[in-house]
Amino acid sequence: MKYIYLWRRRLSAPDGAFMEKYIINGGNKLYGNVRIQTAKNSVLPILAATVLTDKKVEILNVPQITDVKNMVKILSCLGCKASYEEDNIIIDSSSADCYEIPSALARELRSSVFLLGAVISRFHSAKIAYPGGCDIGLRPVDLHLNGLKRLGVQITEKNGYIICKCEKLKGNEIMLDCPSVGATENIMLAAVKAEGTTVIKNAAREPEIEDLQNFLNRIGAKITGAGSGTVRIDGVSKLYGCQYQPIPDRIEAGTFLIGAAMCGGEITADGIYPENISSLIHKLAENGCKIHINNDRIVLENHKTLTSVKSVETRPYPGFPTDLQAQYTALCCICGGHSIITENLFETRFKYVPELKKMGADITVIDRNAVVRGVEKLKGASVLAYDLRGGAALVLAALTADGYSEVLDISHIDRGYGSLEYKLKKLGADIKRITV
Ligand code: EPZ
Repeated sequence: MKYIYLWRRRLSAPDGAFMEKYIINGGNKLYGNVRIQTAKNSVLPILAATVLTDKKVEILNVPQITDVKNMVKILSCLGCKASYEEDNIIIDSSSADCYEIPSALARELRSSVFLLGAVISRFHSAKIAYPGGCDIGLRPVDLHLNGLKRLGVQITEKNGYIICKCEKLKGNEIMLDCPSVGATENIMLAAVKAEGTTVIKNAAREPEIEDLQNFLNRIGAKITGAGSGTVRIDGVSKLYGCQYQPIPDRIEAGTFLIGAAMCGGEITADGIYPENISSLIHKLAENGCKIHINNDRIVLENHKTLTSVKSVETRPYPGFPTDLQAQYTALCCICGGHSIITENLFETRFKYVPELKKMGADITVIDRNAVVRGVEKLKGASVLAYDLRGGAALVLAALTADGYSEVLDISHIDRGYGSLEYKLKKLGADIKRITV
């Protein structure tokens, strides 16, 4: 089955690109500084938001990752003009003239669904295939659609498409059944130019929501409350352009910190907001890491076997992030003792576990729990990445394993990590990218 999957993946690779893999020789400690990229999960909704205004927007230091490239391709299909100036991207949506999001691209990334709110606001119509993204669960969009309906959008779902129409967007109160990041962002985008006020209750509190609020207010929106659980949007009629630096990527930072804890050594993560990953920092301190925080940098040092943490549960922010669950489970595999990791947000976010077991990890998955018994050392193996964060977890495990590993199908990892192997090599890891 696996090889059929690989064969299909290779055939389905975009633009005929062949599959790539990492070859990693484990055992090196990590030392030095790593500059954290701009947050993928901030840049994506902000790119969607550029459709709202017909003035130029410049987004600074955009990470060179596949999800961003695909989002820009979608904007171009809508008639927006995109140009790069080094790592900055300039979007001019003044000539946007299409409200149908191309299905092939929509299926490549989850964040295509955020475009619904922005496109409806601009064209009072929108058509999109069901969004893709990491295969980590059912990933319904009912909260997105119910929220848009509350703003006056008529929605039909037919042949795998979501078709939206509305005469006029009107503000309303919306209570989310669960604090969905994407639904919060989609409703915010649709409400920016709606008539009257919209209040989103039980809104997601992630830092990326606050970042989207700050960006939207910078182009003339009137939004308050992001990060508090209740977001208020007072509709406006005019929007402007701006230059904007989104926040740093707390998940990339967490990935490197976990990697350093696992490999041993001492690294400094530069250009990060420590408060945005305090749940992870507390766990790594419990594992026995020495952590120093000042302003926008975190120094992590570890030179001994990690002590296990009895349990970790993923929760909506500010709880332990689901996007660090796989990486942290990999860390638990080499701690002295047992740990139970519970995934509360997504139904099938343990697909990487069988791959870790090929490296000698002792993990049993029961429903939404991974029961881990730490082993002294993992051993190098050939493993397959099934999704973005699971793939990152396999890389971290390979960095600590005895001998050589290969991590196959790293296109998943390229969706969210810009130049991962370059940054790891700079820290002392023995890793190289090979085209298969
Ligand atoms: C965002 O996905 C992130 N993606 C995910 O990061 C992240 O894991 C997730 O938020 C949770 O923090 C982006 O921002 C592009 P949700 P999203 O809606 O918006 C349920 C990564 O690795 N739900 O907050 O899709 C859903 O099933 C990616 O960078 C509904 O029931 O996540 C899940 O159980 C992976 N109905 C929970 O809410 C809906 O309409 C949280 O999902 C929407 C969601």
